[in-house]
Amino acid sequence: MEWANRRGDLPPDVSGANPASIAKEISRAATDGYDLVVIDTAPHADHAALQAARAADLVVIPCRPSTFDIAAISATLDLCKLANKQAVVVLNAAPIRSRVIAEAEEAITEKGGKLCPVIMRQRVAFQHCMIDGRTASEFEPNSAAAREVVRLLAALQSSKQAHKAAGKSNVSQKVA
Ligand SMILES: Nc1ncnc2c1ncn2[C@@H]1O[C@H](COP(=O)(O)OP(=O)(O)OP(=O)(O)O)[C@@H](O)[C@H]1O
Ligand SMILES: [Mg+2]
Repeated sequence: MEWANRRGDLPPDVSGANPASIAKEISRAATDGYDLVVIDTAPHADHAALQAARAADLVVIPCRPSTFDIAAISATLDLCKLANKQAVVVLNAAPIRSRVIAEAEEAITEKGGKLCPVIMRQRVAFQHCMIDGRTASEFEPNSAAAREVVRLLAALQSSKQAHKAAGKSNVSQKVA
C-alpha cells in the first residue's frame, strides 16, 4: 500500500482486501475487466496466506539466496500443497555471480520447490525506483532491472498457462 500511495493515480489499481473476501474481490475484478490480479501478502505462512493461495492460480514465492529465507519457504510450500496450488520460487536479490545461487537452487529443489528460470539480481535500480513509487522501467527504461521484470512476468505467465493446460485450475489469475 505504501508503494501505491507513493504512485498517486498511476496504474496499476491497488486496493486492500480482507483475506476472507479475496475470492469475491477477484471475481469482481474480472467482471470489471481486469485480466491480471496480484495478491501481495505479508511474509507469513498463516491463515491469510492460505486464503490468498486458494484464490490464486499461481503462487509466487520470492526468496533471497540466504539460509533464513530458504528455511522459511518450507512452510509456504506446505501451505501451497494444502491449497492444492502450483508454486514457483523466484530467487530475488541474487548476486551477479556467486556460488550461493547454485547452493540456493539446490536447497530449494531439495525442499520440493519449483524454481522460476528467471533470477532477479540485486540491483540498485530496484532500490532507487521505490523512493517515489516508480517501477524499474519507469525509473530506467531498458535497464537490466527493467528487462529482468519483463522476463519474469513472461516466465510467470507461461507457468500459469502450463498449469491451466494441465487442467489443474480454471480460476482466473489475480495479481494486486
Ligand atoms: N532485487 C532487488 N535488488 C535490490 N533491492 C531490492 C531487490 N528486491 C527488493 N529490494 C529492496 O528491498 C526492499 C524490500 O522490498 P520489498 O518491499 O519488495 O520486500 P518485502 O519482502 O515484500 O517486504 P515486506 O515484508 O515489508 O512487504 C525495498 O527497498 C526494495 O527496493
Ligand atoms: Mg511485501
